[in-house]
Amino acid sequence: MRFDILTIFPEMFRGPFDYGIVRRARERGLVEIVVHNLRDFTTDKHRTVDDRPFGGGEGMVFKPEPIFRAVESVLGERFDRERVAVVLLTPQGRVFTQAMARQLAQCARIVLICGRYEGVDERVAEHLATHEISIGDYVLAGGEIPAMVIVEAIVRLLPGALGCEESARRESFAEGGILDHPQYTRPADFRGLRVPDVLLSGHHAEIARWRRRMALAKTLRNRPDLLEKAVLSDEDRRVLEELRRALPKTDESR
Ligand code: ADE
Repeated sequence: MRFDILTIFPEMFRGPFDYGIVRRARERGLVEIVVHNLRDFTTDKHRTVDDRPFGGGEGMVFKPEPIFRAVESVLGERFDRERVAVVLLTPQGRVFTQAMARQLAQCARIVLICGRYEGVDERVAEHLATHEISIGDYVLAGGEIPAMVIVEAIVRLLPGALGCEESARRESFAEGGILDHPQYTRPADFRGLRVPDVLLSGHHAEIARWRRRMALAKTLRNRPDLLEKAVLSDEDRRVLEELRRALPKTDESR
């Protein structure tokens, strides 16, 4: 797979892809990541990428020409919309999910367009991008960090990118799942904070039951929305009922 990232701040991408899973995937030849300066696709002396908004208002808007020219330069004017994704990163996009990461991981090429300023000329979203994506309901200064998030989420799904151990735990809550259970490691007593006894008991069935209960409790507290789609056993539902009854009326404290 190959990523092409279009940005006015290519220097921001020095570093984030040089560590861990993404670095290993690059070294194994599973992924190539090419960062392009959008200003290289301008034609005027000042290398202008933005202009004032038609209709008035604050701020500046990315012009369409450098973006169209950059995408056409990296992909050619015609591209296979089945195997190529052109992703515009904006807070107005569909919110990125693990399901979207899985779908995008099937592509041979992905172009990521990092917006800035007050926005990007809408003709890019309407006539060039195949996807308009936001990484969450908050506004960042630009699409660069969202692009890094998306690259990492996709690269770790590529076959061969993870070691076997990591692969087994690849998608904890991606499909009808709930959040992971808490983990502990040595020391068993850290400043008087003890690891739950059950984890030291060696009783595997008890440990599995405890972990499932804690995973349900964490999901109920932090992400109750996931429970609507989660695949739950009768025992899970019984445990959830018990946990709900034990829950304080308003638990906004954590
Ligand atoms: N640009 C600014 N905020 C963003 C967000 N939340 N997601 C994607 N791109 C953005």
